[in-house]
Amino acid sequence: MVKLAAFASGRGSNFASIAAHLKMAELPAKYTLLISDRPHPGAAEIAAAEGISFVHINSKAFSGRDEFIRQLLHELEKHEVDWITLAGYLKMIPSEVVQRYQSHILNIHPALLPFFGGKGMYGENVHRAVIESGMKVSGATVHIVDEQYDTGPVVLQDTVPVLFDDTPETLAARVLKVEHAIYPKAVELAVQDKIRLYGHRVEILR
Ligand code: GRF
Repeated sequence: MVKLAAFASGRGSNFASIAAHLKMAELPAKYTLLISDRPHPGAAEIAAAEGISFVHINSKAFSGRDEFIRQLLHELEKHEVDWITLAGYLKMIPSEVVQRYQSHILNIHPALLPFFGGKGMYGENVHRAVIESGMKVSGATVHIVDEQYDTGPVVLQDTVPVLFDDTPETLAARVLKVEHAIYPKAVELAVQDKIRLYGHRVEILR
């Protein structure tokens, strides 16, 4: 059984869509842990309903960075986590964790990376930037996490049209549907060991 952790700061709809897919597709994988920097994220309710352990870990609650990282790694080890899925987690993953889980951390971004990513590009900011750019398409990207924001190798992407009368909210809603389709698919590929990395390029084994 492949064991997964989710990191989420908010409502957790991607976390929920992945958890549902793992069950529906009867994949040999399950979430054993949810970590959040917030004490009561919506994602925690999903974890509770699914019997998944929830741990609130906020870096500010520790006397130093090392202690914070030790606690993160301790929880991941305790729950025997093989893969980490970031699902609306707003904090940077410490490089020690990225190194420990080298190429085993996935993230979803609500735009077509490498465009409209990086620090500050989250939530409405992303969709507003896409609309203001005049782009006629946007979409979602699942990528492997490296030590910077939104720069790792792309695993899956899909597109949506950008309409002239879109607001950040309407575009976000259209993109979210794509997120809920491609993130579970990417996690399925990960747990089936069908992702191969060649530098910055990803091959999906069929
Ligand atoms: C999603 O739009 C995701 O792309 C971004 O944060 C949002 C999280 O939404 N990284 P949810 O918590 O999964 O509902």
